[in-house]
Amino acid sequence: MQLPADLSAALEERLATQNVRSLASVSGELSQRYRSGHARSQQSSETFLHSQNDVLAYAAYRLPATFAAIYAALAEVQTRRSGWQPRSLLDIGAGPGTAAWAAATIWPELEQATLLERDARMMALGKDLARHAACSALRHARWLRADLTMSSGLENSRYDLVIMAYVLGEIPAMTQEELVERLWQQTADTLLIVEPGTPRGFALVRAARERLLAVNAQTLAPCPHNQPCPMPQNDWCHFAQRVSRTRLQRSVKGGTLSYEDEKFAYAAMSRADGLPIQARVIRHPQKRSGHVRLDLCTPTGLKQAVVARSAKERYHMAQDLEWGSTLNEPL
Ligand SMILES: C[S@@+](CC[C@H](N)C(=O)[O-])C[C@H]1O[C@@H](n2cnc3c(N)ncnc32)[C@H](O)[C@@H]1O
Repeated sequence: MQLPADLSAALEERLATQNVRSLASVSGELSQRYRSGHARSQQSSETFLHSQNDVLAYAAYRLPATFAAIYAALAEVQTRRSGWQPRSLLDIGAGPGTAAWAAATIWPELEQATLLERDARMMALGKDLARHAACSALRHARWLRADLTMSSGLENSRYDLVIMAYVLGEIPAMTQEELVERLWQQTADTLLIVEPGTPRGFALVRAARERLLAVNAQTLAPCPHNQPCPMPQNDWCHFAQRVSRTRLQRSVKGGTLSYEDEKFAYAAMSRADGLPIQARVIRHPQKRSGHVRLDLCTPTGLKQAVVARSAKERYHMAQDLEWGSTLNEPL
C-alpha cells in the first residue's frame, strides 16, 4: 500500500526543509531508544521523544509504517462490520495523528475526531499535518493534551471508535490493565489496540484482549472466535503490511528497498457482533507445486490444513490465500 495523497503531501511539505542526514541519524538513535527503552517502561512511564528532531524523525521514518499497520487492522474491522460508519473517533496516544489519518482514510464520512497526546511537540506537528487532510473531521479535530497514566487523563465521553496504536508498550505495566478498562468505558462500539509484531507487543495485545473478553467484548479481528488465544507461550500471533517507502523515507532510511514490511499485532474488540469467519491464516502459506499448507486459527483452536492439487476448487482457493487472509467457508 501507499500513503494516501493528502497525508503524503502533508508530510512532504512539513519535512521539505529538514536536513535529511541529520534526520537519518536522529531516526537511528530514536529506534535504538525505542528498542532498549521498551524493556524498562514495564516499570515506569518513559518519554522516548526528547527533542523536536525526534518528533520530525518519527514522522519521517515511523509514521508511514504505523499508518500501514493501523490501516490494515481497520480494513479488517470494516470487512467484519460491513456497512458500519463510525461517527466519532478517539485516538489515544495520537502522536502525529497516525490512527486518525488511517480511520479518516477508511471512513471519510467521520464527523468528529478527538486526539489525545502527552507531548506538545507531537501535537503541534499533528495539527500542522491535519490542515492538509481531505476529511473535514480531521481538519477540525479536537486535540487534548493529557497524560494517560493520570486518572484525570481521560474524559467520560464515549466514541464510536477508539484506537490506541503503538502506545500500550509505553505505559507502565501496573497501569496497563486499568487503562484498557477505562478505554472500554469510552468505547460506544469498537476499540482497536495495535502494537509492534514482536513477542512483547503480542503479549500486551493478548492480555488486553483477555481483559476485554472478561467484560463481554466481541472479537472482530484478527481472531475468528471469542475463546482465549490458543497460541502457545513460545510463539506469537502477528501480521505484516507492506508499505511503499516515501522518497524522503528512502533517503532517511538509507536503504535500497522501495518498500518495508511492518509487522504488527492487534485486537479489534466490539460491543457488536461481526460477520462470522471460519478461520484466519496466521503465517505465510507454503505454496508448493502439489499442495498448499496453511496455518490457521479457528474457533476450535490452531489447525494445519494441507490442500492437495487434486482437490481442484479448494486448491485454487487456497492458492489465493495470504498471511492474514480469512476463510469465510470451510476449506
Ligand atoms: C510510538 S508513538 C505512537 C503514535 C501513533 N499512535 C502512531 O501509531 O504512530 C507513542 C505516542 O504515545 C504518546 N504517549 C506515551 N505515553 C503517553 C501517556 N502516558 N499519555 C499520553 N500520551 C502518551 C507519546 O507521546 C507518543 O506520541
